[in-house]
Amino acid sequence: MGDEHRPPHQGETAIIRQDQNAPGTDAATRAGAALLVVQGLRKAFGGLQALDGIDLVVHHGEIVGLIGPNGSGKTTFFNVITGYFKPDRGSVRLGDRELAGLGAVEICRAGIARTFQLVRPFAQMTARHNVMVGRAYGAAPASNLTEAARDADELLEFVGLAGREHVPAHSLTLVERKRLEVARALATRPRLLLLDEVMAGLNPTETTAAMELVTRIRQRGITVIMVEHIMQAVLGVSDRVVVFNAGQKIADGPPAEVIANPAVIEAYLGRDHELLD
Ligand SMILES: Nc1ncnc2c1ncn2[C@@H]1O[C@H](COP(=O)(O)OP(=O)(O)OP(=O)(O)O)[C@@H](O)[C@H]1O
Ligand SMILES: [Mg+2]
Repeated sequence: MGDEHRPPHQGETAIIRQDQNAPGTDAATRAGAALLVVQGLRKAFGGLQALDGIDLVVHHGEIVGLIGPNGSGKTTFFNVITGYFKPDRGSVRLGDRELAGLGAVEICRAGIARTFQLVRPFAQMTARHNVMVGRAYGAAPASNLTEAARDADELLEFVGLAGREHVPAHSLTLVERKRLEVARALATRPRLLLLDEVMAGLNPTETTAAMELVTRIRQRGITVIMVEHIMQAVLGVSDRVVVFNAGQKIADGPPAEVIANPAVIEAYLGRDHELLD
């Protein structure tokens, strides 16, 4: 029996159910297959090479932690993958589709969603309405407002904002706005979710809750790339850690291996980093 036709293993059912909603279902929907394949990605701003030939493969169902010093190109990588900026060169494949050069709406429809490092809610709109906007985009938009509102409330509950549906976004706390950002991204029903520092500014209890949320997102069958400076969080939830420095990938591997890598210590962690004790 071919892999494509075998019955799901325990725990895979949610993955398959989620992907059935997405068009373009292909071999990459199998757990462990390559979902995102980035090759030779380059982006310059004037004379600054922000992405200097990035290669990266992310497998279906993985949580990949992306770390690196300030200005190393992490957010630019997300901006280019999601069509916010067009790459100068290189390829971005999601499943069997080439996305490089497409616009943000098309890439969202193909199944990639992201959060913004500086949260960008529609400030005057309620939490529910913010998430309903997300349900208007992506692979399987809601077919009417009733459905969008129901889905929005379900997602608000999923991210821990039950009871806050009618609060305008500008009245939410920072941690609530970060969660709203995640709910709005999830509303587009992505196959791949890019999280840009969703834990920055959170206290330890809130950070633990955010780590647990990332794990629950993966349980829904969504692959995650997570940019984060809080190393305990990165190491706590990532299957694999990728390190950028000056627009280049300098490490890619299991968390324990990456934090012991001398080039990573030199560029980012520092020799006296507490994680090395
Ligand atoms: N729109 C832009 N115009 C010009 N330069 C930019 C632009 N966006 C990013 N850069 C530059 O590209 C480099 C990479 O920036 P980027 O925001 O990707 O870094 P980062 O790794 O996300 O950093 P941080 O950890 O501080 O968020 C930086 O030197 C930054 O100043
Ligand atoms: Mg950034």
